[in-house]
Amino acid sequence: MLKKAIELLKNDDVVGMPTETVYGIAGSIYSEIALQKIFKIKERPFFDPLIIHVSNIEEAKTLVKNWPKSADILTDKFWPGPLTLVLEKSNKVNDLITSGLPTVAIRMPNHPIALNLIKKFGSPLAAPSANKFKKTSPTTFQHVKDEFLDNVYVLDGGSCSVGLESTILFLHENENVLEVEVLRKGFIQYSEIEKILVENGFKLKKAKLGNSILVPGNMKNHYMPKKPLVILKEGKALKDIKINFNTYVEMTLSNSPEIAARQLYSQLRISSQGKEHIIIFKEMNWHAGELWEAILDRLLKAASEVC
Ligand code: TXA
Ligand code: MG
Repeated sequence: MLKKAIELLKNDDVVGMPTETVYGIAGSIYSEIALQKIFKIKERPFFDPLIIHVSNIEEAKTLVKNWPKSADILTDKFWPGPLTLVLEKSNKVNDLITSGLPTVAIRMPNHPIALNLIKKFGSPLAAPSANKFKKTSPTTFQHVKDEFLDNVYVLDGGSCSVGLESTILFLHENENVLEVEVLRKGFIQYSEIEKILVENGFKLKKAKLGNSILVPGNMKNHYMPKKPLVILKEGKALKDIKINFNTYVEMTLSNSPEIAARQLYSQLRISSQGKEHIIIFKEMNWHAGELWEAILDRLLKAASEVC
């Protein structure tokens, strides 16, 4: 119920919010108490900054120092949707959200419940994925309930239609030359981004950042399921594994990357149920293309072993 969620947000509390990518745990960007709660409930370190969710572009513009022309073009095409832009922040943005970085990450989610919640609440919401730090992201109402039990009120928005976190883009625009860096791969692919920007007269320069601090949450272990995940690289067989284990289940995903993205986090959870075992995922030669790269990026970070 939207009304209850808004009451909670007004009282410095947090709520589980469905989006098209994954469920988030949302709090007001103007409530330091709510922001602190987000980190505490997720057991997330303060050095890992949050994404701000807006319901319209005007709200986004108030959160940044400059809103470059490239941001207009990209948001016109991809918002609401699974694209997050990282831009220089305005002083309206609390340092808790950005972990002290000079930049802020912003997106407009494409989910009626999220958009309605932000609109009716009246200001943007900071929301990381609604899972404990380093654990598998949630794509259903029940996943969030399982993660936080009754400690968080969750709005039920069904299963997430995309299933993978948003593509994160760092933008640095100077005249018509644009430095772009994909900080996190996602459903919206670099080829689509490049195409629309070039069509609009931009010269694209791949940003020479390569600085891990740029995506502080982008660490080796992430999205980890409850049981260890082993990835068998193309051409490797089970008999090649030198790990001792008694039982295992094989995790399969659709060979359509759009469907696989939607299944990924549910499959990691389902495959982790029951007795002690290792989940095996086999990488195949047809796992090619940008969306598979985004899926494999999550799987590699979720894995305990890659053989
Ligand atoms: O699809 C999504 O983006 C979901 C839904 C809920 O919107 N949210 C999400 O949030 O994935 P989270 O907190 O799980 O991941 C956000 C990532 C983190 O890796 C964080 O380090 C990065 O965004 N991030 C946030 N602010 C940043 C900034 N200013 N510069 C670079 N990376 C930033
Ligand atoms: Mg996350």
